[in-house]
Amino acid sequence: MSSSPSLAELSWTEEGQPVSVRFGDIYYSRHDGLEQSRHVYLRHNQLEERWRTLPAGARFCIAETGFGTGLNFLAAWQLWDSTAPVDAHLHFVSAEKFPLAAADLRRALELWPELAPWSEQLLQHYSSPAPGWQRLVFDGGRISLTLLAGDALAMLAQLDARVDAWFLDGVAPQLDPDMWQPALYQQMARLSRPGTTLTTFTSAGEVRRGLIAAGFMAEQAQGHGAKREMLAARLTDQLAPSWTAPWFARPTGQPLAAREAMVIGAGLAGCCTAWALARRGWSVTLIERHPGEAREASGNAQGILYCKLSPHHPPLSRFIQSSYAYSLHLLRSVLPEDGIGWSACGVLQLSGNAKETARLRALAEQGYPTEFLHGVDAAEASAIAGVEVSEGGLHFPAGGWVNPPALCARLLQHPAIELKSCSEAMHLDYRADRWHAIDAQGLTLKSAPVAIVCSAGDSRRFLQTAHLPLKSIRGQVTRLPVTAGSKALRSVLCGEGYVSPARLGAHYVGASFRFDRSDTEPSAEENASNLELLTSLSPQLDSALRSGAALLPETLQGRAALRCTSPDYLPLIGPVVDAEQFRQDYAVLAKDASKQPCNAAPWHRGLYINAAHGSRGLISAPLSGELIGALLENEPLPLPSDLVRAVHPSRFLLRHLIRGT
Ligand SMILES: Cc1cc2nc3c(=O)[nH]c(=O)nc-3n(C[C@H](O)[C@H](O)[C@H](O)COP(=O)(O)OP(=O)(O)OC[C@H]3O[C@@H](n4cnc5c(N)ncnc54)[C@H](O)[C@@H]3O)c2cc1C
Ligand SMILES: C[S@@+](CC[C@H](N)C(=O)[O-])C[C@H]1O[C@@H](n2cnc3c(N)ncnc32)[C@H](O)[C@@H]1O
Repeated sequence: MSSSPSLAELSWTEEGQPVSVRFGDIYYSRHDGLEQSRHVYLRHNQLEERWRTLPAGARFCIAETGFGTGLNFLAAWQLWDSTAPVDAHLHFVSAEKFPLAAADLRRALELWPELAPWSEQLLQHYSSPAPGWQRLVFDGGRISLTLLAGDALAMLAQLDARVDAWFLDGVAPQLDPDMWQPALYQQMARLSRPGTTLTTFTSAGEVRRGLIAAGFMAEQAQGHGAKREMLAARLTDQLAPSWTAPWFARPTGQPLAAREAMVIGAGLAGCCTAWALARRGWSVTLIERHPGEAREASGNAQGILYCKLSPHHPPLSRFIQSSYAYSLHLLRSVLPEDGIGWSACGVLQLSGNAKETARLRALAEQGYPTEFLHGVDAAEASAIAGVEVSEGGLHFPAGGWVNPPALCARLLQHPAIELKSCSEAMHLDYRADRWHAIDAQGLTLKSAPVAIVCSAGDSRRFLQTAHLPLKSIRGQVTRLPVTAGSKALRSVLCGEGYVSPARLGAHYVGASFRFDRSDTEPSAEENASNLELLTSLSPQLDSALRSGAALLPETLQGRAALRCTSPDYLPLIGPVVDAEQFRQDYAVLAKDASKQPCNAAPWHRGLYINAAHGSRGLISAPLSGELIGALLENEPLPLPSDLVRAVHPSRFLLRHLIRGT
């Protein structure tokens, strides 16, 4: 059913059972596949007993190789629902080299009507995964699924998690020897702690010996049905961990006494962070200087979900791809798609020049699932857009536009979030194990053991975050009243600029970049440059819009705001260090960058930042909140380690130290 090389290629038996064409193997037995999954993975990992005795609010992590049809995941979720405390969270991390296309997954899961209450939720949010990481959250955060689309060994090497139970699934070792390697078992041991259990359907001696060599006590156990044997293991000896850079390690210390935090700044970053914590059981105070949320960069009427990728997959591109998937998942979960809050009308990325044409063409040829992106010529793009465009490019059918204030307002409806508006924090003080946000009168606005600075460019105001290289870049969007002709526009158009189908009687075209101004007074000059962007996107739409009232830059409504960016265009998400102490503690790196110091980084205890979302906050802010939440709760991280490091706030301090700048 799928034509993408990264997706599973299936054939179907007469009984409706999926068979992997690549491996020539079935995914499960038609008659007792579910029972087998329960026997091998749930019972032999003693999940029922372990979950019944979990304390309130506990976290439990299962990691799996070979997500396949998600049968093991759904069986585990079903059991979790009937055994674990209501406020406990199950993290299920699964690596899958050849994920199923969404339509194939639906067909495969039809065989298990008993699992329908769970599989329907999965199917509602599952879209054929592109290679990379994708996080899906279900049931108000009680279940989270992190799908690692790629080879198990490569994926697990990038995982930052503490696993409680492993499902070592896959194609039989004799059919897929590449996966069943000692290096895989070593990664599993690295991610385990003494007492972590592991089960697998195979009883192959080589697998058992590999697990034992990695530190697991592995024994043969009673297999299911006709299969006489399987393996059940438990980690006994953790091998000495290899050196990891302390500046990128998770901050350690005393566990926090209470799940209480303050977030400074109620834009997209602050609202997404507050929400990610609130749904993890935290009580959150959001401090905002304006009378309400989303009044600065996050206050535009329409922003687009612009998934700008590079065919060479540098960290920025992989970060954007994972974040885009999570933003869509969040929007579908929380905000009605009503054409006011948001619209999944699709996004067309049009090639404006030779370089862009080459980039878009290279991406179109990489075999992504078509539900994610596909190449289009000018005629196809025009048919999709409903107006004539002169270039082809890429179509992202699931993308669209969002009203950022609607998303922010929706997230703040969470009862555990309190918005403290008209409150401007001038300093941050740490006393008696709590951060205090102090206003201009020297009064404490709020105190909490954890503070997350989401103040965009103004994050530099605080002594503790003043060293971070944040830059503000002014931009403006221009409002264009809808006309009879412009109503034909059905999809977002992006090139040098962007324009969306109308929302509440207007289109918005943007956006300018001004490096010479830092005020937010709208300018006629930028309205004029936005009109030029419109002409370049679609002359037909341009003349349709001009057929109404004259579009005069001086009288058009514009909205200007400041984007906050970093030197490498990636956001800053994570814990904050004492910069001066950091330079002293790791001064040795200035002389020899290959040194491996072991002393823990000088963290400001409980202080985090989430800023520099540049021109794409709608894409990056939701996952950034999720990353902060996962860091604070010691949960599996939603991004591979190299990307967590790529967005780490200390990366610039480290680079400067090493380069001696
Ligand atoms: C013209 C323009 C067009 C854009 N178009 C798009 C688009 O199409 N798609 C897209 O994804 N992104 C777009 N962006 C980018 C996107 O808007 C930003 O990335 C995003 O809004 C950043 O969110 P934020 O929360 O980091 O910052 P902000 O929204 O600026 O929020 C920061 C908040 O912190 C508050 N604050 C700051 N300091 C303090 C303090 N000391 N005390 C209390 N409160 C404080 C501020 O008042 C503000 O509310 C655009 C940006 C601009 C300017
Ligand atoms: C028997 S199926 C798994 C069944 C699955 N756990 C379920 O519940 O439906 C085996 C899966 O392992 C996947 N696989 C094979 N080699 C892999 C590898 N190297 N890394 C990740 N997944 C792999 C296959 O694509 C296939 O989907």
